[in-house]
Amino acid sequence: MSNFDLQYEEYRNYFLKQLDLRCAEIATVPEILGESMKYSLSLGGKRIRPVLMYAVGEVLGVDKEMLTPYACALEFIHTYSLIHDDLPAMDNDDFRRGKPSNHKVFGEANAILAGDGLLNTAYSILFGECFKGSEYISAAKFICDAAGIYGMIAGQSADIAHEKDGNADEDTLEYIYENKTAKLLIAAVTVPCVLKNGAYYSEFKQFGKKLGYLFQLTDDILDACGSFENLGKTTGKDETEDKLTAVKLYGLDSCKLRIDVVGDDCHRILDGVSGDVSFLHDVVNFVKSRLN
Ligand code: IPE
Ligand code: IPE
Ligand code: MG
Ligand code: MG
Ligand code: MG
Repeated sequence: MSNFDLQYEEYRNYFLKQLDLRCAEIATVPEILGESMKYSLSLGGKRIRPVLMYAVGEVLGVDKEMLTPYACALEFIHTYSLIHDDLPAMDNDDFRRGKPSNHKVFGEANAILAGDGLLNTAYSILFGECFKGSEYISAAKFICDAAGIYGMIAGQSADIAHEKDGNADEDTLEYIYENKTAKLLIAAVTVPCVLKNGAYYSEFKQFGKKLGYLFQLTDDILDACGSFENLGKTTGKDETEDKLTAVKLYGLDSCKLRIDVVGDDCHRILDGVSGDVSFLHDVVNFVKSRLN
């Protein structure tokens, strides 16, 4: 294992322990509500948002303990967005993280409620931090806004609105990328800044935006060229549903060139941050060449 892999696993394993503790607290009546929430939370996944939050926290000197409620809330929100994204009314995907999608196991009604439950629990976790001080309130609000109607939900709405749209342009694609994907990544890398009185906030906000673009660019390419074995989700769906993706708008060859351009943007932004940001440079390279 490379130093990067070891460090990634360290952050990820730490997060998974914290997530287990949160999962253990979920005990619902009827039980199926909690079961369906926990099914998707524990399916796996890269956990890149919590890993990024801890990594930026380490650069800025913000403790893992302080970040953990925010990392859990963000992963709850991300997981809810995936459950709803897979529903027949949205992307109609039968697999997620190598396993049947939530609605395939629990049915559509329970999948919708599991998503609602995850979102609501995330807000409850965030409210639980707010008594600690104004920066904790700001960080909580930041996550709410990133997930909301001027953030991830807007991006998902635009993604649906521009299916089968033959006239969509670059600005529309960028709006979708920025909102459905980058906003939660921006939240991951800026929550530590907010908790540290705004240190390097504008640098990390820009970094999250570019990394989000890179992340969705590679997601779109993997949908077109990746394998089910690596991805754990059905490939070729974007073309079937005629989604507005970078692959549709620019073609594969141009997308592959864009990976390097946007990756360089990410590295350049990191160069403006003092401290040891080598792990974050490695995350950029990981996203550029990821297979899942
Ligand atoms: C998938 O997110 C949805 C997008 C924003 C493209 P991830 O690729 O982070 O999914 P997991 O959490 O690793 O399964
Ligand atoms: C989903 O984008 C983004 C969110 C869930 C917010 P995609 O629809 O491309 O994600 P995948 O490919 O299903 O993971
Ligand atoms: Mg989608
Ligand atoms: Mg999808
Ligand atoms: Mg996709």
